[in-house]
Amino acid sequence: MEFLILRFFSFFFFFLLWFAGDDAVVWAAQPRAVDVGVILNSGTMVGKRSQTSISMAVDDFYAGHSNYTTRVALHVRDSGGGVVAAASAAVELLKNVEVKSIISSLTSGEAEFVVQLANKTQVPVVCFSATSPALSPAHNRFFLRATISDSAQVPAIAALVRHFGWRQVVPVYEDSNYGAGVLPYLVDALRDGADARVPYRSIVGSAASDTELDRELYKLMTMETRVFVVHMVSDLGVRLFRRANELGMMAAGYVWIATYGITNAIDLLGVDDTEAMQGVIGVRPYIRTSEKISDFSARFKRRFRIDHPADEPTDPTFYQLWAYDAAWAVSMAVEKTELINSAFRRPESSGNSYSTDLDRLGVSPSGLALRDAISAGRFQGLAGEFRLLNGELISPAFEFVNVNGSTAGSIGYWTPTNGLSKQLTSKTSGPAGLMPVLWPGYAGAVPRGWEIPTNGKKLRIAVPVKHGFDQFVKVETDPTTNRRHVTGYCIDVFEAVVHELPYAVSFEYIPFEDSSQSYDLLVDQVFLRNFDAVVGDTTILARRSEHVEFTMPFTESGVSMIVPIRGSNDKNIWIFLLPLTTELWLGSLCFFIFTGFVVWAIEHRGNTEFAGDLPNQLGTTFYFAFSTLVFSHKENLTSNLTRFAVIIWFFVVLILSSSYTASLTSMLTVQQLQPTVADMSQLNKTKVNIGYQDGSFVQGMLQEMFHVQKLKNYSTPGQYAEALLKGSANGGVDAIFDEIPYLKVFLSEHCTDFTMVGPTYKTDGFGFVFPLGSSLVPDISRAILSITEGEKMGQIEKAWFGDPSNCPSQSNNLNSPSLTFQSFGGLFLITGTVSALALLLFLAKFIYQEWDELRAATRRQSSMWKKMVAVAKLYHNVDQQSLASKREDNGSVGSPYLSTPSDTSFGDRRSDDMAETLQAR
Ligand SMILES: *[C@@H]1O[C@H](CO)[C@@H](O)[C@H](O)[C@H]1NC(C)=O
Ligand SMILES: *[C@@H]1O[C@H](CO)[C@@H](O)[C@H](O)[C@H]1NC(C)=O
Ligand SMILES: *[C@@H]1O[C@H](CO)[C@@H](O)[C@H](O)[C@H]1NC(C)=O
Ligand SMILES: *[C@@H]1O[C@H](CO)[C@@H](O)[C@H](O)[C@H]1NC(C)=O
Ligand SMILES: *[C@@H]1O[C@H](CO)[C@@H](O)[C@H](O)[C@H]1NC(C)=O
Repeated sequence: MEFLILRFFSFFFFFLLWFAGDDAVVWAAQPRAVDVGVILNSGTMVGKRSQTSISMAVDDFYAGHSNYTTRVALHVRDSGGGVVAAASAAVELLKNVEVKSIISSLTSGEAEFVVQLANKTQVPVVCFSATSPALSPAHNRFFLRATISDSAQVPAIAALVRHFGWRQVVPVYEDSNYGAGVLPYLVDALRDGADARVPYRSIVGSAASDTELDRELYKLMTMETRVFVVHMVSDLGVRLFRRANELGMMAAGYVWIATYGITNAIDLLGVDDTEAMQGVIGVRPYIRTSEKISDFSARFKRRFRIDHPADEPTDPTFYQLWAYDAAWAVSMAVEKTELINSAFRRPESSGNSYSTDLDRLGVSPSGLALRDAISAGRFQGLAGEFRLLNGELISPAFEFVNVNGSTAGSIGYWTPTNGLSKQLTSKTSGPAGLMPVLWPGYAGAVPRGWEIPTNGKKLRIAVPVKHGFDQFVKVETDPTTNRRHVTGYCIDVFEAVVHELPYAVSFEYIPFEDSSQSYDLLVDQVFLRNFDAVVGDTTILARRSEHVEFTMPFTESGVSMIVPIRGSNDKNIWIFLLPLTTELWLGSLCFFIFTGFVVWAIEHRGNTEFAGDLPNQLGTTFYFAFSTLVFSHKENLTSNLTRFAVIIWFFVVLILSSSYTASLTSMLTVQQLQPTVADMSQLNKTKVNIGYQDGSFVQGMLQEMFHVQKLKNYSTPGQYAEALLKGSANGGVDAIFDEIPYLKVFLSEHCTDFTMVGPTYKTDGFGFVFPLGSSLVPDISRAILSITEGEKMGQIEKAWFGDPSNCPSQSNNLNSPSLTFQSFGGLFLITGTVSALALLLFLAKFIYQEWDELRAATRRQSSMWKKMVAVAKLYHNVDQQSLASKREDNGSVGSPYLSTPSDTSFGDRRSDDMAETLQAR
């Protein structure tokens, strides 16, 4: 019986199949429905639009793949815009529907718990809105990001910041998982990619009221930085921009950069909102517009009108494109996965008291396979190629848009390989850089990214109140108005520097009285934020620069010492000897004697004045020789040979004596000024006091150098001079150490009595002081350089310190050397040669004339000595004879007083002499 019934049914079934024909095939391969959950916030436009987009994707997918054996059945749940509601929606889907996958449009915060659930139940969650890098597929195997992580856009932002050279950026972000997640990436990218600092982070509560937004914006307004990166959900972001516009922060000088959370929504904004966002630069992933997208847009709007008749349909944003692609990818993976419809495996109900509702959820057996299938999915989606890398979508390029009018126009692109470019072409990289940007406040130039802090307030600049050296800084109080007037070299330099800056800086000087105690105190005021800067003679020191920022130095640098100079030879009774060295004295003496001898030797025979007894002859000879020194000799010279030798000798004497006079003159006037202290070791004695300037860091330096010294402080150049002239013994000092600029000022006033000696200790000169990290410093330093390199600095220095050439440097005149023998060597050579020649000629003549007698006289003598004596005698005798005969001949030669040299010419006299001598023969 049973068999019969079975046969009948099978026959009937077969018949039915045959009868039904084609239709029966469809029926037989009825696709299996696969449950897929959708969690989104149905209360928001984004939720509604995404739901439409997902439904369209599933419909489109099966329209294109009608022979697929699976059909995705969507189960939509409302997340209600909260973490708890989203989690309970997920639990409900997993528990009751046993969905095989979840597509969600959750925020990063909401997604967090859902992702935990997914991990537990091994149900892949595909999320196209949770962009926070804090939630990463790398750590959650069942979390897949069908959108681009927020961290992908930070290199593009860094490239933008670098392109415009901004050095400081303040992130303004939402206090949420989404807002804070990107921050570490942003800070790192700015530091590494753009050398930009993040001096401050502005946190805005997710549900901040307008008052709270205003409070935060006011805080930003008082700060230096003017470049803001706004990272928050679009609703909050747009509200922030509206408030900023109200407060005047959409004005020239400000830079607003919006991350793609806001940028994606710009196209949906009303005119009021875009009006408030003029000049905002937005970053967004680059999605190439295509026919596919415009076709989708049209269908999307039709479908949206049907789904949500009450709402105004708009063009889909990137999120809708990603939602579409995500749903497509899930549908595709579902088809590829085997056993897709098997039920969840639940743990044995053991009555275990620990087991909770969550424990009983079970595990999806096909979860892992489905996850892998989604990950491996590759297709050309609406938003470009759909391809997950490590579980998340990657973006090949980012686009910068600039809100101008009611739209956001593209101003450039960024790719990891080519950086910024004006256009994006697939083959070659477009021209580098960006298109012209509309800046907030319609500013003409690129904002420099920072402003002197404080809203319209002036820079408070401390200036030292000095009690001396007021060429540097001088604070005067006008007795009538009681207003303080600050002038000086440092002030002039600073004002010239500020004038050089490409922007205006307004400031006021505030005299700081305690600076005379220590300049460290003054510099610390900037660190303590009591002042915004110090302008004055503040020396750049390593120790000070730990707390503050110094500009480049604007003066020369170094510490040296001044000491009095005194004439050390004033009381020397032998000073007349000093002009010539001993060598020269002795050498000159020798030449006097030699010349005297030559004159005597030649004149002795023919000149009665050189005759007589031996003492007489010696006396005459020496008297003659030394009287040439003052050209007061009275003896007549009879021989032309002597006359010639003596004329040359006169010439030498003239030069020697005038050199001596000049040298002695200089010695008696400037030459003997010498510093009283020649080097530092002379100061290293207990009785010696050393001076320094009030408040100067030199005090510390001296304490290190001289351990036992008594140090004394002075303020004015007048006190310097007084103390130095007194000396340590009388309560003054022996030396004063100070920086070279002050010493120069001092010396220009007290040029004659003091000098700078000793080694120069290097310091870095004077610089202006700003707080650490101040943006003004690089610009001021550049301006200082351009002023020092130009003529301006010279003019300022001349105006305050006078002409440096007014005081000749004395050190060159100190210790002018005595004249040496070498300096007159040439002269002595000439006179020596001439005298020797004259002597030789004379001897030759003598030997020639007396040859016979000489022979006779020498022949009679046997020894050499005796022969010499005989020759000398002959010389002496002949002499006497010739003189005797001369006296007889003209009688007048004998008296020196009766004859004048001008009587007869040398030539005549010479021939006469010759004739007479020959006649006497
Ligand atoms: C569906 O049909 C296409 C051709 O129209 C074929 O290439 C594909 O393999 C079919 N898929 C299945 C699951 O039968
Ligand atoms: C995911 O689940 C596995 C075990 O199923 C666990 O080892 C892992 O820690 C979980 N991961 C997260 C991020 O919770
Ligand atoms: C802004 O838009 C106006 C009109 O569309 C255009 O003339 C102007 O050049 C744009 N400004 C910039 C900086 O692109
Ligand atoms: C002075 O003497 C002390 C020791 O007495 C020594 O340490 C110091 O270096 C000396 N200073 C100078 C400048 O010579
Ligand atoms: C030296 O310093 C002391 C205290 O630092 C100060 O009272 C005094 O006026 C200074 N002397 C001069 C001459 O300035």
